[in-house]
Amino acid sequence: MSECKYKRVMLKLSGEAMAGKNGFGIDFEVAKRIATEIKELVDMGVQVGAVIGAGNIWRGREGGGMDRATADYMGMLATCINALALQNSLEDLGIETRVQSAIEMKEIAEPYIRRRAIRHLEKGRVVIFAAGSGNPYFTTDTAAALRAAEIEAECILLAKKVDGVYDKDPNKFDDAIKFDTLDYKQVIELGLTVMDSTAITLCMDNDIPIIVFALDEAGNIRKAATGEEYGTIIDN
Ligand code: GTP
Repeated sequence: MSECKYKRVMLKLSGEAMAGKNGFGIDFEVAKRIATEIKELVDMGVQVGAVIGAGNIWRGREGGGMDRATADYMGMLATCINALALQNSLEDLGIETRVQSAIEMKEIAEPYIRRRAIRHLEKGRVVIFAAGSGNPYFTTDTAAALRAAEIEAECILLAKKVDGVYDKDPNKFDDAIKFDTLDYKQVIELGLTVMDSTAITLCMDNDIPIIVFALDEAGNIRKAATGEEYGTIIDN
């Protein structure tokens, strides 16, 4: 098995990743598979922080009529549901896990405390950062970039449905071309929708490489972290 060059990583999972084929809700078989993959990293001694989205439960911005802030707060709550589900799956595999929420709900999860999160990581616990950044108008991608910077993660492992960044949607265009590498400015200038511009800018300003890969096959999280296989690396 290859060595991981990173000691501490931030894994960004979309909410849809938890949904499996249904496209909605939580498929516990899928959650177990993701947990098994995270365990591979933990077993290699990698410290893992994770941020999870909410699209499997709530797609606020697509709904008509609701104001953005309210829709975003509902999305933040949905990320907590996903975080607890993932914690449950990780703990089923014997991986110590802590959930820290950006919005205080102390009966359900620890509040986000940066130094405490780092202590958990140092003790080999997976830390799942729930409720995004706690602010509306910011995505969970931005939360992943922010928390990655705060905990000094060496990279963001960005799990996607497609296996990298393309110049156009590969599901719609047969001639879409995949980028092996990109710099942050290209992502912004070319209008690539891999992450929103706030998240990309935060990564650029803090020199956090983003490794984009598809979550479609077992072992891909480890492969992305070890450089064995990945789609696109975004770096300076
Ligand atoms: P150490 O201090 O390294 O032993 O970490 P620890 O997380 O095991 O210690 P602590 O005694 O703080 O936590 C024990 C358990 O309670 C863990 O599962 C924590 O996630 C949980 N816990 C701690 N603080 C809170 C909180 O404010 N709310 C909730 N819901 N759980 C908490």
